[in-house]
Amino acid sequence: MTVRHFLAIPDFETQELTELLARAARLKAGKDRSTLAGKSLAMIFRKSSTRTRVSFEVGMTQLGGHALFLSERDSQIGRGETVYDTANVLSGYVDAITIRTFDHSEVEELAMHASVPVINALTDLLHPCQIMADLQTVIEEFGPELNGRTVAWIGDGNNMANSWINAAWRLGFELRLACPEGYDPDPTILKRAGSAVSLTRDPAEAAEGADVVTTDVWASMGQESEQAVREVAFKGFIVDDALMRRADPSAIFLHCLPAHRGEEVADSVIDGPQSRIFPEAENRLHAQKAILLELMG
Ligand code: CP
Ligand code: NVA
Repeated sequence: MTVRHFLAIPDFETQELTELLARAARLKAGKDRSTLAGKSLAMIFRKSSTRTRVSFEVGMTQLGGHALFLSERDSQIGRGETVYDTANVLSGYVDAITIRTFDHSEVEELAMHASVPVINALTDLLHPCQIMADLQTVIEEFGPELNGRTVAWIGDGNNMANSWINAAWRLGFELRLACPEGYDPDPTILKRAGSAVSLTRDPAEAAEGADVVTTDVWASMGQESEQAVREVAFKGFIVDDALMRRADPSAIFLHCLPAHRGEEVADSVIDGPQSRIFPEAENRLHAQKAILLELMG
């Protein structure tokens, strides 16, 4: 039997994504009592994390299983042991592996050699688990029909933007990205998405009438040295009250967190009545439990 992985949103068909999101809602409501008793999840982290680590670890505990945190600093992969050896060794102990790393190809290599499911916990290219939680939050607000909704992405064409594009492609909602020149999303991912996704240089144009306005930090993990240059390039890309007024009056604001308040988003927006950042963060737990059950159950 081939092992299924979750490295990117399009690893699942539209119907499967819809079912995963419905299951995440049932898990949150306490209506799905499925377990992963006796199962173990290895979690490799080459970058920092609060939400992803805690939600996967707590998720496994709640499902009756166990999660192991393998940090870059004190596991052998951090000292240069190969992905091939790591994949084969861990496959002999655990039932699934999550990995957060820089190069997306490392996650693909791990999945190629592991005989257990691999879940992408963020790469420089993609952050699919976050998008599942974001979609769950959108559904909580507006109902299960995503087709016909409009999402405005303001800022960097980064791992979050790329995963939003994949989600729009698979689930059929409209995504409008506003990115400064030179900070576009991945061209292959953008091209594949076709007409569901548009790209502009004007945040106001992207936000016009949108149901969801979302953004992320201007310099992601690994790009810290570019902070000053990016602050210049991203001038005018802050999500503030004026930009939120462009969106639909019932629009919500999302941010994967961690945020730089006052930089990519004004305090009044992220802490204001349209913000759903904390339900969004909590939904990491429920959405990932649905993914874990699907892949390990
Ligand atoms: N949003 C997110 O992935 O947060 P962490 O970096 O804290 O895991
Ligand atoms: N784009 C951000 C997301 C953090 C969850 C980063 O990669 O650092």
